[in-house]
Amino acid sequence: IAFARELAASAATLDELRECMAGFEGCNLKFTAKNMVFADGNPQANVMFVGEAPGRDEDLDGKPFVGRSGQLLDRMLAAIGLDRSSAYISNVIPWRPPGNRAPTPQETEICRPFIERHIELVKPKVLVHLGGASAKTLLNTTEGILRLRGNWRIYSGAAGLEIPAMPTLHPAYLLRTPAHKRLAWRDFLEVKMKLRALS
Ligand code: URA
Repeated sequence: IAFARELAASAATLDELRECMAGFEGCNLKFTAKNMVFADGNPQANVMFVGEAPGRDEDLDGKPFVGRSGQLLDRMLAAIGLDRSSAYISNVIPWRPPGNRAPTPQETEICRPFIERHIELVKPKVLVHLGGASAKTLLNTTEGILRLRGNWRIYSGAAGLEIPAMPTLHPAYLLRTPAHKRLAWRDFLEVKMKLRALS
């Protein structure tokens, strides 16, 4: 983990970070994944969305949120006037866990320096955590996502970086629990208003 942190810190640009991660052999998930999933969208965007880990479709494509969850995410983005040219999207874990199992706490800790550096390099004005894994890992909390969602938090990064962060429900969860879409809708409206206040 110390090595991952040093490696991540050595990356001065997103391209360098991608290369560092592609060469990193400290996470076992890399050896079963077909592709590394780095990010999609516009790194200049005001808002960055961070999910959990790639699934089958993302692993095949090398891009985050391209499967069923991704299609729902795209519709949710469109509902607040965003698309992949006005948002940036990544995950806590860049390699697919076999069979879409949940990443272990150890895998999450190993990969965490990379997403933290990723956020530092992008420096979005607003961060959105898609699901509990992203929220808990990056906001250093053990609270459940149903309690976290809907309330602005501060993401604290290196060198005093502070970014308003909205935890919300993961699109894959919403596909299984469509009755909760109205909760995510509220969270997305919060994000929309925050972004509007910036411009
Ligand atoms: N779920 C995630 O958390 N991330 C993806 O990229 C796809 C599905």
